[in-house]
Amino acid sequence: VVVSSDVPIYFNNPNVNAAAYVDQSTFEIEMNEIWYKEWIYIGHESEVPEVGSFCRKQLGMKPVLLTRDVEGSINVFFNSCPHLGNMVCEKETGRSRTLRCPYHGWTFAPDGHLMGVPYPEGFGSSFVKGDHGLTRLPRVDSYGGFVFASLASDGPDLVSHLGNACTDIDQLCRMSPVGEIDLTAGWLKHEVKSNWKIAFENNIDGYHPTIVHRSMNPLEMTIFDSSTDKSVAQIRYLGNGSSDVYWVPEYRRLNKEYLWLGGVAPEKLQGYSDSLVAAYGPELAREIIVDGPPHTIIFPNLFIAELFVMVFQPLAVDRCLLLESPIQWKEAPVLNRRNILSTAASIGPAGMVLADDVAIFERNQAGLAAQEPAWIARIRGMDREVEEASGIISSSITDDTPHRGFWSHYQKVMNR
Ligand SMILES: [Fe+2]
Repeated sequence: VVVSSDVPIYFNNPNVNAAAYVDQSTFEIEMNEIWYKEWIYIGHESEVPEVGSFCRKQLGMKPVLLTRDVEGSINVFFNSCPHLGNMVCEKETGRSRTLRCPYHGWTFAPDGHLMGVPYPEGFGSSFVKGDHGLTRLPRVDSYGGFVFASLASDGPDLVSHLGNACTDIDQLCRMSPVGEIDLTAGWLKHEVKSNWKIAFENNIDGYHPTIVHRSMNPLEMTIFDSSTDKSVAQIRYLGNGSSDVYWVPEYRRLNKEYLWLGGVAPEKLQGYSDSLVAAYGPELAREIIVDGPPHTIIFPNLFIAELFVMVFQPLAVDRCLLLESPIQWKEAPVLNRRNILSTAASIGPAGMVLADDVAIFERNQAGLAAQEPAWIARIRGMDREVEEASGIISSSITDDTPHRGFWSHYQKVMNR
């Protein structure tokens, strides 16, 4: 990392310092400046559906716990006992009236307050249970059911952080006739020998599919033709590090239903189409079926990948965990059944997409270890991107516009 007056330079537009992927001290700065200050995606409200539901999650290197209390509110705590720091909850997910630390039996309610301790007299008369609850994360908020938390006690609110990405989440939710999604179909997990940023950047890289995913070509999926410069689909930098692939113009130009679902015959999803018509009327229902779900990556760890959600979890400078769950649209059983299969076909153990991507993530990490070139040039599309009135910068789908956006935001927060 180039150091000038103690400020590391990771991005000198359009060049990215290779050290950002391989340097241990950079990983530690990221933890403090990104993961422990920015809004970070934690989990989805549907993962804690009932009073007492809990779910273990991770925020950077810190274990956290998502719970739903008796008031029906969502809470996010550190999964760490205020007594001696033991992890309170070991189970990944479940439902219980109390959370009991397995070390000395301190017991907490789903709203985090300390209910009881064994042999309390030993702590003396000044011991007040109200002072020893689970530690709540300073800020927790949600949008479209997606729960985010920030360890910074002040700063922009969640909607400001999401900015233009709110519209993408709306586009996702409106695909349910009742406007909500569930993440309840279970999780795939992939441990990958690459820096988390390689996974982030690949998922907004419209330049690689026709190369890396060539083995899918025999399926003759429309998505391939749409992933070239012949397509009118756009790649867009939405601001605050987040981006999307905006398929809508291409899908509207082709004007066919369900292209985003591999062009499945519409009659196979008749029940779903009917429920959309009943909920929204024929015009909007048709628009939803043509437009499909968004392909949106929200800085730094949430990827809404059309059919599934992927969460990026850093483990070390050269290791990360990817967690994926098929999206389940509320009151859309016909679509949901198909989507579980489609997700498995693309990212499951025998899937056609993620296996190829992950091989590239690991080769990318291995190659970057050379740090030669010391700077990577993110130059593609520099002279054809357009800034819109909304602040969105859009370009051809194969361009590096999202990457320049990601790195400029990264540099800003790392220097804070
Ligand atoms: Fe890919």
